[in-house]
Amino acid sequence: MAVVRASHVYKVFGRHEREVVKRLKAGEDRKDLAELGTAAVIDASFEVAEGEIFVVMGLSGSGKSTLIRMINGLWDVSDGSMEIVGKDISKMSGSQLRQVRRDHISMVFQHFALLPHRTVRENAAYGLELQDVGPRERLERADAWLDTVGLSGWGDKYPGQLSGGMQQRVGLARALAAETDILLMDEAFSALDPLIRREMQDQLVELQSKLNKTIVFITHDLNEAMYLGDHIAVMRDGRIAQIGDAEDILTRPADDYVANFVQDVDRTRVLTASSIMQDTHAVVTHSAGPRYAMRLFERERVTGLFVVDRTRHLLGTVSDRAVVRAAREGVDTLTDITETEGILTVKPDTPLSELFAPSAGARVPLAVVDDDNRLLGIVPRVALLDSMAHLSPETGELPAVSQLPATVEPQDEVTDESRAAEAEAPDAKPGIAASVHGETEDEAQESASASATSDDQKGA
Ligand SMILES: Nc1ncnc2c1ncn2[C@@H]1O[C@H](COP(=O)(O)OP(=O)(O)OP(=O)(O)O)[C@@H](O)[C@H]1O
Ligand SMILES: [Mg+2]
Repeated sequence: MAVVRASHVYKVFGRHEREVVKRLKAGEDRKDLAELGTAAVIDASFEVAEGEIFVVMGLSGSGKSTLIRMINGLWDVSDGSMEIVGKDISKMSGSQLRQVRRDHISMVFQHFALLPHRTVRENAAYGLELQDVGPRERLERADAWLDTVGLSGWGDKYPGQLSGGMQQRVGLARALAAETDILLMDEAFSALDPLIRREMQDQLVELQSKLNKTIVFITHDLNEAMYLGDHIAVMRDGRIAQIGDAEDILTRPADDYVANFVQDVDRTRVLTASSIMQDTHAVVTHSAGPRYAMRLFERERVTGLFVVDRTRHLLGTVSDRAVVRAAREGVDTLTDITETEGILTVKPDTPLSELFAPSAGARVPLAVVDDDNRLLGIVPRVALLDSMAHLSPETGELPAVSQLPATVEPQDEVTDESRAAEAEAPDAKPGIAASVHGETEDEAQESASASATSDDQKGA
């Protein structure tokens, strides 16, 4: 169920609210109506699902704060409806609205909004005080939430004794202590310096995985939006230009405005293993025989296969050499020759930025697995390098574009060096990317005998 649902919401400031809404609906431009009123939000429709982080992003003045203030009922909508947990707050009386706010909504502000003469603990308990929770219980609960945000032991200090990052943690603890299901955060991390800000983002993601709040998070920082948002609404001049997940917005921008807006995003933090992973058919079940495996080697033109069980749980890899040997020796399953060392697995949601290091050292493509270790796909190093090639050189945080080849040897391509390396390392783990086709004498011989054996089999 949508926890927040906005349908065709308008907010116009000024005395001619109705008139402006009417003319906007008739297709007039907000600029031409500026004399009559400021159209801060125009025809905004969106849903925020339970447990998601919904980010609203846009330039200054695009209407973000106005939008969030209509979610908590601080502003009435000029037109349209705003539903919170299924109830239309635009039609509520003051006391009904206060009730909904109290039960469902807490807010974290950009400038912390802490009370300077109260201790950290009392600040964290403040929301509970407003909810008429007794002093002992509210201070205990405040302490527990201070622990959760990493501030154990700081309860007796005053806000002024804390750094900005710590003060915002108090703000977060205060919002969490109210134990509402919806958390509204308006530029909550924008006043923090970049390192602390990044830490807070990580902490929010971690907390969210435990608490499963429904969060509406406002920011004008693209990287923050992309990092945090399950869904992102991009606002422009009061309208929502696009709603989508980070990948949609990056790879399928709705218009030139959004495309321009996102061009400087650090894609390696946004795109994940799942966005570049490839299907692989170089997969064999462990109960299969070496002869079947040899046919796969031939068909897929690889020198290694991933070995899985019947339900695709990843068990290891086998090399063509080991398989050829096993076939000669009459072994009938791959179980004993499956190598379990040296496969690096990543999750589908691992950001590209975290794939470079493991990929650089790995001799096989990274295996993308789900939480049960089932093989979903592979990321060959060439795919990772290829994704880099499509990055704009302006992506600030990635000066590594030109440095990468030094740390990442293109082992998935056949070069003289890689052939030499293969020749020197006869027991090397299999290289599984399709382009790998080792042609050292030794290997040529084995692959010839592999073809011969499988031809025999076809004939049989
Ligand atoms: N109380 C108000 N009265 C009149 N106009 C207002 C009021 N609040 C906001 N506006 C106008 O509405 C438009 C949207 O403002 P809003 O504060 O929602 O933008 P924002 O996206 O939050 O910007 P920022 O990133 O600077 O916080 C602006 O043109 C602003 O001047
Ligand atoms: Mg604002």
